[in-house]
Amino acid sequence: MESKRIAAEKAVELVKDGMKVGLGTGSTAYWAIQAIGRRVKEEGLSIQAVATSVQSEQLAKELGIPMMPFADVDVLDLTIDGADEVDPALHLIKGGGGALLREKIVAAASKQLIIIVDESKDVKQLGKFPLPVEVVPFAFELTVKKLRKLGCEPKLRKNGDELYVTDNGNYIADCEFGAIADPEALHDDLNRIPGVVDNGLFIHMASLVIVGSADGSIRSI
Ligand code: 5RP
Repeated sequence: MESKRIAAEKAVELVKDGMKVGLGTGSTAYWAIQAIGRRVKEEGLSIQAVATSVQSEQLAKELGIPMMPFADVDVLDLTIDGADEVDPALHLIKGGGGALLREKIVAAASKQLIIIVDESKDVKQLGKFPLPVEVVPFAFELTVKKLRKLGCEPKLRKNGDELYVTDNGNYIADCEFGAIADPEALHDDLNRIPGVVDNGLFIHMASLVIVGSADGSIRSI
C-alpha cells in the first residue's frame, strides 16, 4: 500500500492550476485522488476533473474535487491511473478493476497518461496477469468462443454468483494468454471480434510510469 501511495503522490505533483485532469480507478488511483483532494482543499488547487469509474467519481466528489461533464471535454492535460502490468515499451495491461473502457477513453483524450504502480507491476513481458476483455452481453457465449480461438483461456468475471457487470453494462472476460509476444497485434485481433467492446491492452498510450517500491524509493520509466 505504501509503494502505491508514494507513486501516486509523486504523480500528483505534476498537477498544476488550471489543468483538466482524468482520474483513474483502483487502489493506486485511490491514493492519487486522495492527494488531489488534499491539494484542492489545502492549497486551493484549481482544476477540473473527469473520472474513469462511478467509484472514482464518487470519491472525487466526496473530497470536493471539481468535476466537469464529459460533454465539455475536448482535451485533458493529464490523466493519472494505475495498471496491472507495465512492460519496458510502456505497453500496459489494465482493467483488473473492470474500468478499462472508460480508462481508455479518458486516456485517449489526455495529452499525458501518467501510470502509477508498485514494483510488482513492472514486468519484462506482458501476460502473466489475465487480460481483461469487455464484451457486450448479447451473444456473449459466442464472443467468448471467438476469444478462445485466439489462444487464450477466457473466464467470465463473477461478482458472487452473478456475472460481473461493468459501469457500461457489459461483461468482462479475463483471458489467460500467457506471455504476450506481440501486444499490438493481439490488441487489434481482439478488437476485431464483433461483441468485443475493447480490451485491457494500452498500446503507446502511457507517457510516463512512476514505480513506487516498498523501501520508499521511486523511479520513473
Ligand atoms: C482498473 C485498472 C486499475 O488501474 C488496475 O487494475 C490496477 O489496480 P490497482 O491500482 O488496484 O492495483 O485498470 O480497471
